[in-house]
Amino acid sequence: MTSAAVAVPHIAVIVVAAGSGTRLGAGAPKAFVGLDARPMLQVALEGVFAAPLAQVIVVAPGDLVGDALTTAHAAAGERTELVSVVAGGATRQESVAAGLHAVWPDVRFVLVHDAARALTPASVFARVIGALEAGAPAVLPVLPVVDTVKRVAGERVVAALERSELAAAQTPQGFARAVLDGAYASASDDHTDDAALVQAAGHDVVTVAGDDLAFKITTPADLARARAVIGRGPRPGLPRVGVGTDVHAFGGAGSLWLAGLEWPGETPLSGHSDGDAVAHAIVDALLAAAGLGDIGTHFGTAQPEYAGAHAAVFLARTRELLAQAGFEIGNVSVQVQANAPKLAPRRHEAEAVLSAALGAPVSVTATTTDGLGFTGAGEGVAAFAVALVVPSA
Ligand code: CTP
Ligand code: MG
Repeated sequence: MTSAAVAVPHIAVIVVAAGSGTRLGAGAPKAFVGLDARPMLQVALEGVFAAPLAQVIVVAPGDLVGDALTTAHAAAGERTELVSVVAGGATRQESVAAGLHAVWPDVRFVLVHDAARALTPASVFARVIGALEAGAPAVLPVLPVVDTVKRVAGERVVAALERSELAAAQTPQGFARAVLDGAYASASDDHTDDAALVQAAGHDVVTVAGDDLAFKITTPADLARARAVIGRGPRPGLPRVGVGTDVHAFGGAGSLWLAGLEWPGETPLSGHSDGDAVAHAIVDALLAAAGLGDIGTHFGTAQPEYAGAHAAVFLARTRELLAQAGFEIGNVSVQVQANAPKLAPRRHEAEAVLSAALGAPVSVTATTTDGLGFTGAGEGVAAFAVALVVPSA
């Protein structure tokens, strides 16, 4: 912990991450969608851990409490003892209430933060905490509104609002613990943020400056912006390449699986999965091209469901990961170095299986190594892949 953390030890941060992300529509609960190799929740929590605090409570969808804990521990580093995860509710307000029940007794200030504001800079946390320490009961980070805002009823404009009187609310919102507890205990209406609920309970809310980077990732355009900010997003118009290699030794049990095909009568390869070095090299090349880490990040021993899986399963999942990260696959070229099996007679079959799994053309070439090296000695198989990916339209 930093010396600042010692000076202000009584702060808890509730990070709400239990929403489904309907407007994002990424096929997974929003906080678990990848910004790079890390899910949004992890990026958000790394920002939270940069602030001086005592306790971090993550509020996750009920069926993802375990995943959230793994993610939170990855973000917490040495400070895992500060983290707990609770299941959220049907609305944001219910989710915050669930988090509030888990706040330790000696906590004096509670910050409530949206996981969806994953890139919030530490300076916003510092301003909110500073205002609480100066005695404010409730603190709201805000940005000036840039658009002219109208009140409408259906398709009719009812009134123009005075822009100078408006501000856009962000998080983390900070509260004296007793104020937030009291407001939640007496809440009757549903509010979209905590400052509104606390104000409805009769407390003053003061503002501090928010930050452009504290924007809420809500739509696919917001997700693209967040990825561009952290430097992993597609650069508009530019494709990206990645390289992957893999090696497996002969000596496994069962059949040989290589390039997505079963090879009856050939010596099998050993490995955590089916030992298909061709498929694994392709997965690494694709993940590298998209900046999504490597095969161990997504298919390691921590994911036992992939033990024994064949190429089509790995490749289909990889395609899904790339799609979530905003990439389409252009093409893949893979070369096999091996004495056996002889690839040429089944090249088209292999290309068809691999291409179908990826939804993109895969070329398979093969070579021997003139008796040199481990492949020349017939000890195993090596594969080398290059992948080209392009930003999704
Ligand atoms: N949230 C929550 N529990 C809910 C609803 C929302 O913890 N029942 C959290 C979200 O995970 C998010 C924050 O509140 O971090 C702000 O909500 P929003 O951006 O609206 O996220 P979602 O509700 O997931 O998105 P959508 O409204 O598009 O479905
Ligand atoms: Mg919502």
